[in-house]
Amino acid sequence: MKVLGLVASQRKLGNTEILVKEALAGAEDEGAKVEMIRLTDYKILPCDGLAPCVFGNTRCNLEDDFNFIVDKIFETDGLVLGTPCYILESTAIIKQLIDRVFSINFRSQARGKPAIIIVPYATRGWTPFAFLQPNILLLFLGMAVIDRALIHAQAVNEVVLYDRSLARARGMGKELATAIKTGDASYRGESGVCPLCHDRVLRLLRDNETVECGVCGIRGKATLKNGKINVHFAEQDIQRQRFSMENIYRHFTYHIKPSRDYFTKTRAVTKEKRERYREYLKTGDK
Ligand SMILES: Cc1cc2nc3c(=O)[nH]c(=O)nc-3n(C[C@H](O)[C@H](O)[C@H](O)COP(=O)(O)O)c2cc1C
Repeated sequence: MKVLGLVASQRKLGNTEILVKEALAGAEDEGAKVEMIRLTDYKILPCDGLAPCVFGNTRCNLEDDFNFIVDKIFETDGLVLGTPCYILESTAIIKQLIDRVFSINFRSQARGKPAIIIVPYATRGWTPFAFLQPNILLLFLGMAVIDRALIHAQAVNEVVLYDRSLARARGMGKELATAIKTGDASYRGESGVCPLCHDRVLRLLRDNETVECGVCGIRGKATLKNGKINVHFAEQDIQRQRFSMENIYRHFTYHIKPSRDYFTKTRAVTKEKRERYREYLKTGDK
């Protein structure tokens, strides 16, 4: 049983790294072979948008460490993802990874494997989107997020002062290993509103009644009962979640791939029409 920890902070031996290490130690207590990768030690380029991965390549062809990281994720049985909260959400390296996992599309070998998310943060109320991007990354890969924690710590290494926080991370790691051993990857975390990503960040649509989880793409109905907002997601709506294997396949096959035919058909005209933008405000290639 292998458990991999990914650390998305520039701070070496910072709060994220320490909490991820605690979680890995918890998994190790349960018999896991553990490994940690500090993402910021690796070269992960931005997606160049040329998308050969969508039109045939099975791997991203940019020359950096992305495929190495992906292989590590595919080899593991469970994942600990740690990112500090930066300006209300995750650090940029997480978004960089999200854009790049596009190249995997529906071929993820991590589907169904359990994962946990740990987010250290400094200021109460400054964490509204802390789990969104980690969720997008893991759900795109088809992983089952079984628990997530926001852990308060500000200064470098400060978290070592808080035994309860360290114990929380260790307990999550143990639970992750248990999920791998038992095959029960059900969610154990704090309940949210979305039944899939368990977040509470919903969009209220224009009818002022329908709500949508922007991460999962599912829509439900909000009603008011005894002064409380109740949100109901019907089973058939839950099935429409964008990250199911079937829906990711559909997205790539019927939405993205056909754009190539249109691109090929209109290529001569776009080539001609784009020329007037080439010289205008020319900045020069760097
Ligand atoms: C650029 C930057 C932005 C931050 N933004 C937030 C924020 O929006 N909300 C918050 O609660 N903490 C924020 N923090 C604090 C970090 O989340 C906190 O210090 C965390 O413990 C850092 O983890 P690390 O030691 O692993 O890097 C920010 C820190 C930095 C450096």
